[in-house]
Amino acid sequence: MKLCNVAFAPENKSIQVREGATLLKAASLAGVHINASCGGAGTCGKCRAVIANGQFRSEPNIHLSDSEVSRGVVLSCLTVVEGDLSVEIPQEAQKGAGVRVDTGLGVGRELLKIGDREIQPRTKKIHLTLPRPTLSDNISDLSRLTRELRKQGYPGRDITCGLSVLQKLGPTLREGEWAVTVTLMWTQFGIEIMDVEAGDVTLSRYGLAIDVGTTTVVVYLVHLNTGDIIDVASDLNAQIRCGEDIISRIIYATEVGTVEEVHELVIGTIRTLVDTLTARNGIQPESLDSIVTSGNTTMTHLLYELDPRYIREEPYVPTTNFLPVIKASEIGINVNRNANIYAVPGTASYVGGDITAGILASRVHLSEALTIFIDIGTNGELVLGNQDWLVAASCSAGPAFEGGGVEFGMRASQGAIEGVEIDRQTHEPTCHVIGDTEPQGICGSGMIDVLAEMYLAGVIDQKGRFSEDLETDRVRPGDAGLEYVLVRRDPARGERDIVLTAADLDNILRTKGAIYAGLCTLLSEMNLTFHDVERFIIAGGFGNYIDIEKAIVIGLLPDLPQERFHFIGNSSITGAYLILLSKEMRLEAEEIARRMTYIELSVSRAFMDEYMSALFLPHTRLDDFPSVREILDKRR
Ligand code: FES
Repeated sequence: MKLCNVAFAPENKSIQVREGATLLKAASLAGVHINASCGGAGTCGKCRAVIANGQFRSEPNIHLSDSEVSRGVVLSCLTVVEGDLSVEIPQEAQKGAGVRVDTGLGVGRELLKIGDREIQPRTKKIHLTLPRPTLSDNISDLSRLTRELRKQGYPGRDITCGLSVLQKLGPTLREGEWAVTVTLMWTQFGIEIMDVEAGDVTLSRYGLAIDVGTTTVVVYLVHLNTGDIIDVASDLNAQIRCGEDIISRIIYATEVGTVEEVHELVIGTIRTLVDTLTARNGIQPESLDSIVTSGNTTMTHLLYELDPRYIREEPYVPTTNFLPVIKASEIGINVNRNANIYAVPGTASYVGGDITAGILASRVHLSEALTIFIDIGTNGELVLGNQDWLVAASCSAGPAFEGGGVEFGMRASQGAIEGVEIDRQTHEPTCHVIGDTEPQGICGSGMIDVLAEMYLAGVIDQKGRFSEDLETDRVRPGDAGLEYVLVRRDPARGERDIVLTAADLDNILRTKGAIYAGLCTLLSEMNLTFHDVERFIIAGGFGNYIDIEKAIVIGLLPDLPQERFHFIGNSSITGAYLILLSKEMRLEAEEIARRMTYIELSVSRAFMDEYMSALFLPHTRLDDFPSVREILDKRR
């Protein structure tokens, strides 16, 4: 078969692929990022590329205008390589500089109340000086070591040792002149000698807490003696090229690519972040002996290379919610070869370890106050409860607030419109852009703002439909119905105006409707109302940037006093960090995962009814939103 060379600008990378490969696949093999929200299904229109020259075949699609096609713009997933190609990836399809990642160190830091707790990671380093062997005391090296451990109070009978440690034991003992540091790991079967090092290196003891998010991965480098967070690194999850949300990711792993391929992508992201952290802090990877990961059930399956297909198929069953503690090397994370890795347990296919970690970090399970915990990401996970009970649900919100399914939607990175005001008379918008730079698109917080402002300014009605009789050229006919022009740009430079289309409005309404309907259904299952809820905890990086008032105007959040809302940022990484350092916290997390009762909303008639009612601004039951009614009355 013919091999074709594909060169990508502006990254200046190239790759040889077989004739017939898609451009998206070629980019992936070349390590070139192209936004691919739908994972190559041809439905999102985000994977734009410009063919400078070469042979290709591209399917027609509704996302590209005639003028774009004449300029060589294609969708990478619908374009097949037929010869050597030179391709340019436009800025809107690139990764996006300075993606805003919540590392949990801001709001979450207060929750790290390790100070009054004994730091008790799963591993321990102890320094021993062994008596030298003599003719009258010539027992084996391993027996000499375990004898000393027994003297120190460790039950010798339960101590085990793997081959890799045995292979280095003899030389290490002699190199250190019988002074040795032993790393012990507590397992369900007893104590394992995880490593032996010459001399006293007990202070060199590190672990990793990792939040494996659908969009981003955050890694804490933690000193296991002090609990200090030495450094933090984060990046987009490289799996993002296989789709924006978990369903696209499962489809890619099981129908387009392979589970192994998607697994390798996230492992690659983790490896790069760990390499960055160890190099930046002058730490040997071998000093990392404990890892805790937190992620939703699909991310955890893909991290451990488990087939996630049954998560998507009714009755939505995961392989397991509780993963065994294994060696990190088994899944390809290159730290100490015997380092253990523990995944925070989840409750169900759509309520995973990240939610357990969030409940642990927010202490909802110990509080008397009736609390709603909500994590708005590519899926909306909800937990209702207190110290006596916890119920959880997931409401398939869709990825709109992360940029998916919205023509100019993007993640919160440089160039994203994050705030909007619309003049009530002229209908002219004022946009606030991350990084104070040229706007490229609109992120989740911007979408909430623009929807609320369009509604309050009369640009759209309660059903989210455009008003046709406004005297403004900001509302105009587009390729697929009316659209609102947020930013005018220069077509001579190949730029498209940033608009919000009727289809975008529909998607945002559906997302906010699903979240609100999920909340209502969970409450009514427990015979409660929003007025019974004393605290409303919003987790997730996106939550930090939500304007509560505007989220109430669009009916995403209930009309409650502002002081009941609390933002805790990335509680998934905070929970992983707590578990890394504390056995007590680990046991609490396991208890939370077992205690949470999962309610399946996808088959709930009540949820569907609530969802239909929530597809309005703010809601069909305007009486439930008195503050919005007041604003509307004043406007009249
Ligand atoms: S249209 Fe190509 S990845 Fe979505």
